[in-house]
Amino acid sequence: MNHSPNLRPATASRSTALKGRVRVPGDKSISHRSLMLGGLAAGETRVTGLLEGEDVIRTASAMRAMGAQIDRQDGVWIIQGAGNGCLLEPVEPLDFGNAGTGVRLTMGLVGSYDMKTSFIGDASLSKRPMGRVLDPLRQIGTQILEAAPGDRLPLTMRGPVRPVPITYRVPMASAQVKSAVLLAGLNAPGITTVIEPVMTRDHTEKMLAGFGAAIEVETDADGVRHIRLEGRGKLTGQTIAVPGDPSSAAFPLVAALLVPGSDILIENALMNPTRTGLILTLQEMGADIEIQNERSEGGEGVADLRVRHSQLKGVTVPPERAPTMIDEYPVLAVAAAFAEGETVMLGLEELRVKESDRLAAVARGLELNCVDCTEGETTLSVRGRPGGKGYGRAQAGGAVETHLDHRIAMAFLVMGLAAEHPVSVDDCGIIATSFPEFMDLMGSLGAEIRTAETAGAGA
Ligand code: S3P
Repeated sequence: MNHSPNLRPATASRSTALKGRVRVPGDKSISHRSLMLGGLAAGETRVTGLLEGEDVIRTASAMRAMGAQIDRQDGVWIIQGAGNGCLLEPVEPLDFGNAGTGVRLTMGLVGSYDMKTSFIGDASLSKRPMGRVLDPLRQIGTQILEAAPGDRLPLTMRGPVRPVPITYRVPMASAQVKSAVLLAGLNAPGITTVIEPVMTRDHTEKMLAGFGAAIEVETDADGVRHIRLEGRGKLTGQTIAVPGDPSSAAFPLVAALLVPGSDILIENALMNPTRTGLILTLQEMGADIEIQNERSEGGEGVADLRVRHSQLKGVTVPPERAPTMIDEYPVLAVAAAFAEGETVMLGLEELRVKESDRLAAVARGLELNCVDCTEGETTLSVRGRPGGKGYGRAQAGGAVETHLDHRIAMAFLVMGLAAEHPVSVDDCGIIATSFPEFMDLMGSLGAEIRTAETAGAGA
């Protein structure tokens, strides 16, 4: 089924050994937060390594529309912030395109302002649930003036004249919900407390501390995190170097593991432990991933990853690991398709509400390309075939439906590099939301990926 008039199909074919050294673009989560907190803080924030993908550019536009001045000079993003508590009412609806993180965090940011803000997005974002962020906002006094059924976009809200700081226990493992509540707390007097039973990526907490917010995190005897933020404090502009996105690094990484003879180096990948579940899982599967040159940059651990082709074996991925690799399941499922034995992935309920229903999208894509798998309500099992014999259906005219989901597109293009027959996806345009350099970067390693344009150019 076509979901956009501008689909750009692409096909990946079995490739010879991938070789070379690459740097993946900046981390998406940290990039969004840099623009938001930089746009809010007093004074100047300078950001290098920002991800210049469509999602992040939408956040820059939203912050501009609320009073921040944001310019790019020689690759450095220079932000003059509005000052905490001083955002302006945007004149037009804020258009977040495909970006769930952008829209949900911004809803938090403006939810405690006595102003009217409207949010719109693309077909994928308009299907995603916003209630998880609106529920805590309603408790601080935010009114939802208009919303599509099920608390979906397009949506208009108005914050209260007097926001109430709340204590909120996050009911699902979601860094977006945690972050939205904390950002709302920045403009509420007193202490906002977020109780996080399952730890998720902690970039918001770290960055708030870096900008000078009064924030403390305590982990109790049961491992539950209590995050306390004092509202209405001063935030001061910072200098930020955004490390490479491990969720983008995942694609060349798995490609190198699957394509025989490969040996690549991925430089400057973020190694925050809330983001490294994929590396751990692949190492358990027998992957040859060497973590080199570990260092700390701007308060985050980074490293270079040397990755060599490996014969993988199936494992069970425990549910408690899901938050540390939540965006990596599509490409892990592809890796599992080439492993010996069965890989069982548990605790995947959150995959149902990503840019697509990722659990279903992955299972349909695997089935289309002749991989033996079983989709459960919150689980996925993949029975692999080392060497990928018989995999791939592009010649029979079958293209994986990406449903406006960048990670589905990239995961299945990676599959095609090692499958016996080519693998096609119905759209690669959506990849620009998070990884605009994907095609060029993969091509520089030797990956055979064609679009209608490159085929037409006789490449
Ligand atoms: C993100 C949190 C995760 C992740 C998303 C980025 C963030 O979403 O999937 O890509 O930057 O906070 P959830 O909060 O829905 O788990």
